Amino acid sequence: MNALLKPLEMDFRPMRAADLDAVIKIERAAYPYPWILTNFRDCLESGYSSWVAEIEGEPAGYWIMMLAVGEGHILNCCVAPAWQGRGFGRSLMRHLIDTARQHATEALYLEVRPSNTRAVTLYERLGFDGIALRRDYYPADQGREDALVMRMIL
Ligand SMILES: CC(C)(COP(=O)(O)OP(=O)(O)OC[C@H]1O[C@@H](n2cnc3c(N)ncnc32)[C@H](O)[C@@H]1OP(=O)(O)O)[C@@H](O)C(=O)NCCC(=O)NCCS
Repeated sequence: MNALLKPLEMDFRPMRAADLDAVIKIERAAYPYPWILTNFRDCLESGYSSWVAEIEGEPAGYWIMMLAVGEGHILNCCVAPAWQGRGFGRSLMRHLIDTARQHATEALYLEVRPSNTRAVTLYERLGFDGIALRRDYYPADQGREDALVMRMIL
């Protein structure tokens, strides 16, 4: 097979402190209200499941999940803007779900802005259901925005 036709894939590896410069660059480019560096450091120091996804050897996304007894709370899930809309969000989430299953997780939870239709669509197609609304949870250009709480039973 012609190597040029090989589909691009994400390779996953645990996030390390040395990744944070690249991670924060993606975060700032991808979110209107990005996390700050300290948020990522705290996640690493707390031992949360934190992974970097590489495409062609370069960081192209990441996810972070807090695993508690039987539950996984997804704290961040992000694809670099240049790689969005090409199925990599789905790859990222599939890796997260596989990892959760390996830890005997029974349910996954996340919060998302209802206006983030791409993310909401992705989660719904993977099997997440909306279970609650947290009022005025996120900062927004005009006031605050609610958070949709979603859950997937594994
Ligand atoms: C949300 C995010 C992770 C999705 O990743 P992505 O690579 O862009 O998404 P994918 O290409 O894998 O597409 C995922 C699904 O969304 C759908 N989708 C793609 N673009 C869309 C759009 N503009 N509007 C609505 N749905 C869309 C696709 O149909 C796809 O479903 P399918 O595979 O069943 O066809 C990514 O856009 C991102 O990192 N955004 C910024 C950070 C963020 O908002 N993270 C989520 C916080 S809760």
